[in-house]
Amino acid sequence: MPEHVSKIAIIGAGAVGATVAYAAMIRGVAKHIAIYDINRAKVDAEVLDLNHGLQFVPMATLEGSDDIQVCAGADVVIITAGAKQKPGQTRMELAGANVALCRTLVPQLLKVAPDALLLLVTNPVDVLTYVVQQLSGLPARRVLGSGTVLDSSRFRFLLARHLNVAVQNVHAVIAGEHGDSEIPLWSSASVGGLPLMQWSVPGRAQLSEADRTHIFDNVRNAAYHVIRGKGATNYAIGLATAQILEALLHNEQRVLPVSSRLEGYLGIRDVCMSVPSIVNGGGVEAVLELPLSESEREGLKRSADTIRQAIRTLGF
Ligand code: 2OP
Repeated sequence: MPEHVSKIAIIGAGAVGATVAYAAMIRGVAKHIAIYDINRAKVDAEVLDLNHGLQFVPMATLEGSDDIQVCAGADVVIITAGAKQKPGQTRMELAGANVALCRTLVPQLLKVAPDALLLLVTNPVDVLTYVVQQLSGLPARRVLGSGTVLDSSRFRFLLARHLNVAVQNVHAVIAGEHGDSEIPLWSSASVGGLPLMQWSVPGRAQLSEADRTHIFDNVRNAAYHVIRGKGATNYAIGLATAQILEALLHNEQRVLPVSSRLEGYLGIRDVCMSVPSIVNGGGVEAVLELPLSESEREGLKRSADTIRQAIRTLGF
C-alpha cells in the first residue's frame, strides 16, 4: 500500500488563498497543495510563482486548476473564495453573495473530496460555517471556520507590545463573532501564568481600563485599517489558517478559538461562532467552558444572537 500523502485543497487564488498556500508551504503543513480558482490565468500564475520557491521549503508539490477535480482526495478543503470587503464595508454585508457561492461549491466538493474536513475562511465566516454545515449534511465537527484565531492573534500582539513581553507568553482570547460583535475575554487572559487582571510588574506599563478599551478597539477595527491601506488582509490570516491546518492534519489536540457549531454552550445553541476549542484530526473535538464574567457571558450571547439573526435572514 502506498503511504497516504497529506493533501490540502484551497478554494480561491486571491490574496487570502495564495497566502494560505504560501504559509502552508513554508511551514510544511501538507505534502500536496492544490489550488482551485475559476480564473485559470490567476491560479496558474500563483502556482508557478509558488513552485519557483519549492527549493527553499520542506518537500511538497503544488498544482492549480480551474477544474474542481484538482481538489480530489483532499484531507482538508479551505474555502477562501468569494466577495471581499470594500473599504468601510462590514463582513456581514458579504453574506448574500458568499452564501450563493457556497450553494454552488459545496455539492461539487462533496463529490470530489467526500472525506475532507471543510475549513471556512471566507466571510462572514461564522454564518458561512453554519450554512456549509447545513448544505453539506456533514457532521458539525467536520466543518469549522477560522473564526477568531486571527482576532486573538491581533489581541495577543497588542497586549504583548503594551506590556513589553513576548507574544508567545500572552494567552488571551477574542470569542464570539469574527466581526463587529466579538468579545475580549479579559477575565481569563494571562501572561506567563499571571492573570492579566492582576498584572503589575515594576518598571512595566500598567493596563488601565482606558488601555483595555483602546486595545480592544484596535483589535475589532484591525481589518478595517488594513483594508483601507492595502485593499485586503492576507498575511496574518494566512499564518492563522496554517496553524489550524497543522492542528487538523497533525492531530495536535490544539486549543484554538475556531468557529464551530455550539449546542448548549452557556445556553447558546444553533449557531456557529468561536470559543476556545480542542482541534484534532477529526475537526472540532470539544469546546472549553471558561469561567467568564457576567458581562463576557452577556456579550457572547448577544454576539450569538447577531450571527443567528443573519443566518435566519438568509433562510437557514
Ligand atoms: C480579517 O479580519 C478581513 O476578516 C478579515 O482580516
